[in-house]
Amino acid sequence: MKNRIIIFDTTLRDGEQSPGASLNIAEKLQIAHQLAKLKVDIIEAGYPMASEGDFQAVKTVAKEISGITIAALARAMPKDIDMAWEAVKYAKRPRIHTFIATSDIHLKYNLKRTKAEIMKTAVAAVKHAKSYTPDVEFSAEDATRSDRDFLTEIVAAVIDAGATTVNIPDTVGYSIPAEFGGLIEELYRRVGNIDKTILSVHCHNDLGLGVANSLAAISAGVRQIECTINGLGERAGNASLEEVVMALKTRHDLFAPNTQINTREIYKTSRMVSNLTGMMVQRNRVIVGENAFAHEAGIHQDGFLKEKTTYEIMTPESIGLAQSQLVLGKHSGRHAFRDRLNNLGYNLNEEKLNKAFILFNELADKKKEIFDEDLMTLVDDEVLIIPQRFTLKHLHIESGSNEVPQATVELRCLDEVLKENASGDGPVDAVFKAIDQLTQIPGKLLDYSVRSITRGKDAIGEVRVKIGLDDKREVFGKGVSTDIIEASAKAYLHAINRAIYEREKG
Ligand code: KIV
Ligand code: ZN
Repeated sequence: MKNRIIIFDTTLRDGEQSPGASLNIAEKLQIAHQLAKLKVDIIEAGYPMASEGDFQAVKTVAKEISGITIAALARAMPKDIDMAWEAVKYAKRPRIHTFIATSDIHLKYNLKRTKAEIMKTAVAAVKHAKSYTPDVEFSAEDATRSDRDFLTEIVAAVIDAGATTVNIPDTVGYSIPAEFGGLIEELYRRVGNIDKTILSVHCHNDLGLGVANSLAAISAGVRQIECTINGLGERAGNASLEEVVMALKTRHDLFAPNTQINTREIYKTSRMVSNLTGMMVQRNRVIVGENAFAHEAGIHQDGFLKEKTTYEIMTPESIGLAQSQLVLGKHSGRHAFRDRLNNLGYNLNEEKLNKAFILFNELADKKKEIFDEDLMTLVDDEVLIIPQRFTLKHLHIESGSNEVPQATVELRCLDEVLKENASGDGPVDAVFKAIDQLTQIPGKLLDYSVRSITRGKDAIGEVRVKIGLDDKREVFGKGVSTDIIEASAKAYLHAINRAIYEREKG
């Protein structure tokens, strides 16, 4: 245990203080269950004195989540501590977390009290909390801007009063790693009874150093890290749980202690918190951003395909992601391009591959990201030139508010013209049914999407379909037209023609 870092998650308390990130009780409970799966050691569920909602949320989490310590925050005031206890007492392992500011700036402008008064209040608060539960944490708010002698004295005093954890917050994210590590070392050196408590840190991210400061503190010997999912928190947020945990895991050569976090739950937790708080995860965010395991540059893709560790210091699986992504764009190289085509089932000879690569580069100049469907269309239509056995000659729809839609479809097949009528659950369904009867290749529509690719009322619509065939194959088709019913028919036929080609080619 001594060699393990305790992860104190404060997503539901400090994280929820992020402007714009408030959560209701049910959402907090859902996140708390996920944090339990992630195997955090402590969940700080809220600040019960803040509101009735916060009180109920702490109470609910305390009742429902077992096997984990549940903490409730309280100012160093009897009524706050009483309220925190009333909410958290239902937990199997309750903790009261009480705090008061210790910096001169807070004493002068905020609290308007002397150091002696603060000392007395802090000790009394810890003793009061201790009368409820043996597990009491004390935080010296704004510790990094506090007078070092006073900080040393108050830390020693609260330990004597019974604080089992003492937290040193960098409340305004002011410190830098060497300085913060030095402060922690100084406390270990100067506080005589420091071995009677667990030293913790809580680093805000105002200078983007929350994680770096937390790691410096770990190197200096702290045993608890306070952090949040996706780095949520007051202002610029807190040290992010996923970054601290993955840094310890990835650089185990430098950090002896590890955590008990089940890292495979990281991605899921991050998405859940993002969805419920409405706080988007930026694409290039560390560990959990969409780009964190995506490679676009040709040189990187080439190296990655030869040996993943050339460009990945951790695996996507380790955070619960299925795989890395090779994004095809204008920086991509031939190696990645061929690899993606192979994965899509194409085995082109050198000449065709060259042609496809040239066309791909032309497209990549116009389009930021090339999706699988784009590649398939490009290869089918411009490289393999898949014969279009069936083409649309004419389409007529009858449809209205209280009418069953009817479609009449005329197709050209080699030299013949075929015609069929069908009704359906909508005009598109009616068209697809008529096409099924004409081609005799019934397909199950697995996916259908429509988007406009130009602007204005006369915009061109692009329809993409994926259909499943009797032999379990899935084929993709794309069609464009200013009339989306016609675009749908073209997309469907495109897929059918592809199915025929594949079947004939074996
Ligand atoms: O940032 C801070 O100082 C806090 C304390 C309440 C721990 O959030
Ligand atoms: Zn904080």
